[in-house]
Amino acid sequence: MTTFPSTPRTRAWRAAVSLSVAALLAAIGPTAFAQRAVEQPRKTCDTATTPFCDATMAPVPGWKGRVFRLAQHYPASAPKDVQPWLSFDPHRKPQEYLDAVLAYFYEGNTRSNTEASFDPALNRVRGWYNAPWQDRGTNGREFVHGLTRERVSLPGELDPKQTLPWNNYAVGFYNAPGGVTLGKVWANHGNPDAGLATMPEGTVAAKLLFTTAPVEQVPWLAGSPEWQAYVYDPNDSHPRATSPRAIRTVRLLQVDIAVKDRRATDTGWVFGTFVYGGGPGRKAKGGSGSGWQNVSPVGVMWGNDPGYKPGHGELQQTALNPAVHMPHLGYQGRLNGPVDNAVSSCMSCHSTAELPQGTMVPPKGADPAPWFRNIESGVPFDAGHKPLDYSLQLEVGLVNFLRQNPSVFPRSLSAAQVERVHQDIGKPLSRAGDE
Ligand code: HEC
Repeated sequence: MTTFPSTPRTRAWRAAVSLSVAALLAAIGPTAFAQRAVEQPRKTCDTATTPFCDATMAPVPGWKGRVFRLAQHYPASAPKDVQPWLSFDPHRKPQEYLDAVLAYFYEGNTRSNTEASFDPALNRVRGWYNAPWQDRGTNGREFVHGLTRERVSLPGELDPKQTLPWNNYAVGFYNAPGGVTLGKVWANHGNPDAGLATMPEGTVAAKLLFTTAPVEQVPWLAGSPEWQAYVYDPNDSHPRATSPRAIRTVRLLQVDIAVKDRRATDTGWVFGTFVYGGGPGRKAKGGSGSGWQNVSPVGVMWGNDPGYKPGHGELQQTALNPAVHMPHLGYQGRLNGPVDNAVSSCMSCHSTAELPQGTMVPPKGADPAPWFRNIESGVPFDAGHKPLDYSLQLEVGLVNFLRQNPSVFPRSLSAAQVERVHQDIGKPLSRAGDE
C-alpha cells in the first residue's frame, strides 16, 4: 500500500475544518440563512428514508431565480441510445471524438435561456443525473445551479492580464448508464454500497466549470454563457463554510468529459476537455463567437504515459489540439484543463478514486511516478482500497456520507477501511483542495 506523510497543507485544512464546524454551530440561528452558508437541518433530505438533498443551503429568502433540483431518479436500466463517439478512434480522430461527445452532452441541454440550460428536468432527448452527497462543507453545492467550489485560478494562470486569484465552480452530470451505477451504489439511502461502483461501457460523465473571473481579467471569456450562483467572495481563496456568500455572475470556462470506452485498453476511460473561446490564443475559434457552442477542444487522453521522459519522444496517450495554446497543461504536458493543477492530469487525479480516499495529487517532494501509472478500471490506486472506477463524485459523496453517519457500517467495506475513512477526516476532498 502506498501511504504518504501528512503535508503542511493537509494539517492546515484539518485545523480549518474543525474551526469551521465550531463557527457553523455558533451561526445556526433564526437569521442564519440570510448571508451565511449554513447547512440545512438534515431532516427532510440525506437521511435513510428521504430523498438526497439538492444543495448545502436553502434558497435565500425572496429569491425568484432558478433553484437547483438534484436529478436523482436514477434509472434501473439504461434505455437504448446512440453512442456517436464510437465512429471515431480517440487516438487518430481526437477532434471528431470530442465533438461527438460534446454534441451528445449538449443535445436537449442547451437552450436560448442560458439560466435554464443544463436542467435535466427540461431535457426531452435523454436523461442526465447528478451525484448525491456533494452538498456538504465549504465546497458543497450552492442552491441556484448546484455548483460545487473547485480549485482557485491563481494570478496569471488563465491569462497574463489576470492579477487576482478567482474562485471557480462546477456541476457534473452522468448519462443513463452512469446513472444506473449511481442508483445501485446509493439504492439504500442509509447504507450505500461502494462495491457496486463499476460504471458500464457507454457511461458519459460531463462537467461544466465556471469562473468568477471577469472579462477585464480574462479577455478571452467575452461572450461566455453566464449563470447566477450563490458564491463566496470571488477573490477569497480560502473561504470557510460560514464565510458570506452572495448571488454573483459566473462565466463558462471549461467543459470536461469522461467516457467509458473499452478501446482505451489500459484504463477503460477516455478523458477530454474544452476551453471557452479557444483560450488565450483564440486561434481555434474566432474572437467574436459566443455561447455554449463557442468552446474548443484542448485535448484528449486515454492513459497516463507511464515512464514518459520529456525530450525522449512524444506523449503517446495524450493528444493535444495544436490550435489551442493554454497557459498551462498537466504534468509534463499531459492533458489537464485551465482550472486544473499543473502537477497532475485528468486521469492521474481520477485514478485515485477509491475508499479510503487516495491522495489526489503527488505531494511536494514525493516521487510522482505512482500517480502516472495506468490503472485499469476496477483496480484501486492503493492496494487494499475499494476502487470507485475513476468517479471522484462517488468518492466525495461516500466520504461525506460516512463523515455524517459515523455509526453506519457500509456494505462492501471492511472495518479497517471504514476506520481509515474516519481517520482521514479533514483531508482535502475536492479539486478545491489541491491548490
Ligand atoms: C486534482 C484533481 C483533479 C483533476 C486534475 C481533474 N479532476 Fe475531474 N474531478 C475532480 C474531483 C474531486 C471531482 C468530483 C468533485 C467535483 O465534481 O468537484 C471531479 C469530477 C469530474 C467529473 C464528474 C464525474 C466524476 O468523475 O466525478 C468529470 C467528468 C471530470 N472530473 C473530468 C475531468 C477532466 C476531463 C479533467 C482534465 C481536464 C479532470 N477532471 C481533472 C478532481 C480532478
